[in-house]
Amino acid sequence: MNIPVITIDGPTASGKGTIAALVARALGDWHVLDSGALYRLTALACRRAGVSGDDPEQAARLARELDVCFGDGVWLDGEEVSEAIRQEAVGNLASRVAAYPAVREALLARQQAFRRVPGLVADGRDMGTVVFPDAQLKVFLVASAQARAERRYKQLLEKGISANIRDLLEDLQARDARDTGRQAAPLKPAHGARILDSSELSIEETVQQILTWYGNAGVSSPADSRA
Ligand code: CDP
Ligand code: CDP
Repeated sequence: MNIPVITIDGPTASGKGTIAALVARALGDWHVLDSGALYRLTALACRRAGVSGDDPEQAARLARELDVCFGDGVWLDGEEVSEAIRQEAVGNLASRVAAYPAVREALLARQQAFRRVPGLVADGRDMGTVVFPDAQLKVFLVASAQARAERRYKQLLEKGISANIRDLLEDLQARDARDTGRQAAPLKPAHGARILDSSELSIEETVQQILTWYGNAGVSSPADSRA
């Protein structure tokens, strides 16, 4: 049975995680894969084991051996780390170790195992290009750097964390450059992906657009069945 998958790839703070969760819920509690969390967990495991971001072999070993559990939160080696993996330093280290092919290979099967009935919404950088190339619908979600920095700023303020928009803008542009410029699974729209610019869209409008596309992609029209 071909379990349906919708992939949502895009740069940092474009809204992937928020939109993926809402699309999954609207489709009747589909599963959600936050693939960035696996790279962040690998980065956190590296920090805790004293492995530097310059050691691909050790980073890949830790990625292969990750003892993780996803539920209402995220657990690493039995410890709740939902907040710890969201730190900016962990995100930056994640984007460094994510550039190593051996780390990506170590996490591939773990990501594909999230594909379970009734369906999966997967968000990340290479969901449509590498991990689920046969996805029924591939979305490349973008927003201007300014809009993304403002969103991240508000998100941090809501958590009581003070931040500076100019620093956030610089950080996200640096991460975009690293994710787009790397050799291994660079951030780019998958073949057949629909580009969705949400700079001027609300969360609800963005979710609705994806559901409309899925309706059209997921239900074959009479014309398709004649082809
Ligand atoms: O997962 P990703 O880093 O792409 O982004 P996110 O953490 O889902 O979204 C970043 C912030 O932008 C969240 O606070 C969302 O509520 C907000 N957002 C928004 O204001 N408007 C949108 N159209 C999408 C997300
Ligand atoms: O929340 P945000 O969009 O900033 O990042 P994330 O999705 O949690 O991912 C953290 C880092 O992991 C990204 O900057 C990417 O370098 C890497 N990543 C990746 O290479 N491939 C994925 N499928 C997901 C994340």
